[in-house]
Amino acid sequence: MKDSYQNLRVERIVDESWNTKSFYLRPADGSAIEAYAPGQHLLFSLPVDPAEPDLKMMRFYTLSDCYRSGGAYRITVKHEVGREAAAPDGAGSTYLHQHMTVGDRLQAKKPMGDFTLEAADEDAVVLIGGGIGITPILAMAQSIAAEGNSYREVRVFLGMRNREDHPFKDEFAALVRDFPSIQLNVCYDESTAADVQGSDYDYAERVSVDLFKRVLSHNRYRYYICGPRPMMDALTGDLAAWGVAEAQIFTESFGPATASHLIEQSEADGAAAAAEDAASDVIEVNFARNGVTHTWDPRYKCLLEFAEAKGVSISAGCLYGDCGTCMTPLKQGAVGYNHPTEITPDEGCCLPCSCKPTSSITLEA
Ligand SMILES: Cc1cc2nc3c(=O)[nH]c(=O)nc-3n(C[C@H](O)[C@H](O)[C@H](O)COP(=O)(O)OP(=O)(O)OC[C@H]3O[C@@H](n4cnc5c(N)ncnc54)[C@H](O)[C@@H]3O)c2cc1C
Ligand code: FES
Repeated sequence: MKDSYQNLRVERIVDESWNTKSFYLRPADGSAIEAYAPGQHLLFSLPVDPAEPDLKMMRFYTLSDCYRSGGAYRITVKHEVGREAAAPDGAGSTYLHQHMTVGDRLQAKKPMGDFTLEAADEDAVVLIGGGIGITPILAMAQSIAAEGNSYREVRVFLGMRNREDHPFKDEFAALVRDFPSIQLNVCYDESTAADVQGSDYDYAERVSVDLFKRVLSHNRYRYYICGPRPMMDALTGDLAAWGVAEAQIFTESFGPATASHLIEQSEADGAAAAAEDAASDVIEVNFARNGVTHTWDPRYKCLLEFAEAKGVSISAGCLYGDCGTCMTPLKQGAVGYNHPTEITPDEGCCLPCSCKPTSSITLEA
């Protein structure tokens, strides 16, 4: 995250489904957007609380369109609505859905991320999107079509609940109409009487390797998967069992959009707050490589957002402890974790995206 934030102007907002909106964004200074690879995303710094405009939250959103010189960035955001009693709506997606209007400004870094596909390659690919994980899959399929290579075998599998929850239905239909080498398979796992098999969807089941075995004539593809964690875990395990080499499978997770994870976070927040109280002293955070020390501000959800606010860049890939990209040596002091993390930090290191200091600390950042 070495680049600084750029001001983007909201040029257009389009409803893609009842809870999904696309935002078309252009640099506010009139410059062109940066070239990007299909599958990449932007990192946004969002002032989600109008009462505290200086307090920014970091969120990633994938570019859901293929790059076109002279075009705008397009991101597509699902509004995370709190499903359980006590669960608030998602902060970042609510901010974008309910507060952004045309002409407003957003701050984002340049396109980043390595879940990318080389549109000009010839390898046969299977592109798999679950729910809002459709965003990089659409950008990848469009980029391959834009290359005009009608010989490349492209198989797309989309997993949705039903027609209500199915963004980009028409855009995908137009894509496969124009490029017959792209074959689309839509799965609904909660189809309703209003959904028409053969027109809205193809299979009344989840995306699975069992389905691939019925639909694909071989397994010699590169597999690109983006969707909820349980879907990705099941697919990657079953693909390996089907004889697909690990090197042929590429995945991107959008994070823990589950309430239970964040309930654990709320409980851990309490524990971290108690630890902070017990320390009673002011907590100092020393960023050794940058040679600066700042007093910890408990309004921040994690060390990464605090570092970012103080102008200290720490690379990030997922923002919830799943990828290890932010792992940073902790030279001194202690941190408390907000929630369980997929990655266990190496000895003497911490994951700044998922923890807060519980004493004064020195970070190698
Ligand atoms: C690389 C990458 C690319 C991404 N691309 C996209 C994309 O293209 N489109 C997209 O829509 N998203 C994308 N995401 C996900 C996105 O970054 C956000 O994580 C997502 O929008 C949710 O953020 P939020 O602030 O709205 O929700 P959060 O505030 O983070 O909440 C998440 C969920 O937890 C629940 N919750 C919050 N607090 C509590 C609590 N105390 N107790 C119980 N439940 C709680 C909320 O109701 C919500 O359902 C991507 C993520 C990554 C890492
Ligand atoms: S950003 Fe992925 S583990 Fe911290």
